[in-house]
Amino acid sequence: VSVDWSSGGLDFHLDLHPAEGRRHGLAEAVRRAIRDGRLAAGTRLPSTRALAADLGLARGTVTQAFAELAVEGYLRVRQGAGTVVVGMPGAAQPPRAVPPPSPRPAPRWNLLPGRPDVTLFPTTTWLAASRRALAGAVAADFGYGAPEGHPTLRKALADYLGRTRGVVADPDAILVTSGYSQSLGLLAAVLRDLGEHRVGFENPSNAEFRRVMTWAGGLAEVGIPVDGKGLRVDALAGRRDLGAMVVTPAHQYPLGSTLDPARRAELIEFAHDTDTLIVEDDYDGEFRFDRQPIGALQALAPERVAYAGTSSKTLIPGLRIAWLVLPSRLVEPMRAAKRLADRHVGVIESLTLAEFLAAGHYDQQVRRGRSRYRSRRDRLLGALGQEGITVWPDSAAAGLHIVLPLPEHSPPEEQVLAHLARHAVGVDGLVPHWLGAGSGTGGLVVGYAAPPEHAFGPAVRALITALRLCWR
Ligand SMILES: Cc1ncc(COP(=O)(O)O)c(C=O)c1O
Repeated sequence: VSVDWSSGGLDFHLDLHPAEGRRHGLAEAVRRAIRDGRLAAGTRLPSTRALAADLGLARGTVTQAFAELAVEGYLRVRQGAGTVVVGMPGAAQPPRAVPPPSPRPAPRWNLLPGRPDVTLFPTTTWLAASRRALAGAVAADFGYGAPEGHPTLRKALADYLGRTRGVVADPDAILVTSGYSQSLGLLAAVLRDLGEHRVGFENPSNAEFRRVMTWAGGLAEVGIPVDGKGLRVDALAGRRDLGAMVVTPAHQYPLGSTLDPARRAELIEFAHDTDTLIVEDDYDGEFRFDRQPIGALQALAPERVAYAGTSSKTLIPGLRIAWLVLPSRLVEPMRAAKRLADRHVGVIESLTLAEFLAAGHYDQQVRRGRSRYRSRRDRLLGALGQEGITVWPDSAAAGLHIVLPLPEHSPPEEQVLAHLARHAVGVDGLVPHWLGAGSGTGGLVVGYAAPPEHAFGPAVRALITALRLCWR
């Protein structure tokens, strides 16, 4: 029934659906009128008696509808003072948010570091693992889980890390996180709670991760130099002020060197002497091309080193699953921090990854990646060599990127990057990675994993052509 109604200077169009009942229909019509702005805040409504008469409704129906709207916050009903429109109880419009910045389009020739070839991701195998994981899950798996992560995944990770990275891993010392970024953020918060103020980073190192620690824990960053043998451990001598020292021993980020065996031992000695926590970022330790992968530093001193791994390079960054193997004193505080942050990593993907690991697919995936990336590295080095372009010594033995120092006659890094961008080639620069803006030399950090296979050759040719023009 559709009623057009005018009362006390107010015009209404009311759709009363017989199925909905009159009270509900009236309440909904008034609600809609308030939401649409036809009934503005402050408007006084006619008395329930007048309305009931106009609409041919029982007075009780109108009173009940108004009472309902008053409870919801649309109307204010005052005994003897009539009924007044309050306005929208919530916001009339969804809040106007700034739209997220459109993602920087990937460069046509994507040689940015830190990204794997996502086309290697084995969708079908993952799907099958996911099916098995769900079929084997029990009811308890679907409730809130423990902050440290599902025990099945922690067990599978402990096996894998012990077998392939030499990590001394008790499943109970493992904390599953949603990325290395979260691992670092939680560590920073816990270190701050333990009274720490400063954290050491390799200089240069990934600027984004340094920001994570200062943001999450308010820790001040201290730069420790690196050279062709990795961290200059001698530069740490006598320092007792660092709550932690973050290192990338398998493949220094960004320079690419491997921490020298003597320095590994010295770093552990330093950790023992000064009670400093070492954070080992093993982000691409699986990818070593010319010899056996070098085992984790953590194995030398499991109570001094927090080992951090991630699936972002071996599988895909979008998965957001990473892990920490922690010294025993940090296990409880880190679990508590993870619980406060977001309770725990999602169970379906955790169980799928556990299946994937246990069935050997993860190993297989690492082997596929290693062989693809080795061949790409060789092609890239060959092409650069033919052109007489120097590669930073040792940066090519492992990982998914190499570093090209700028030749003496080169324009500054910023100009080289802009020139490459004009040729649709995306690489990263070294300058932002130094602690203390502008303190270090420029260079190009060239990733060779990101492009799909068909685009790799053309990407390398585009890089070389653009560099030839820039550096001739
Ligand atoms: C030095 C370094 N560590 C770790 C990671 C992995 O971070 P996440 O696990 O948050 O993807 C990256 C990714 O680019 C990296 O460059």
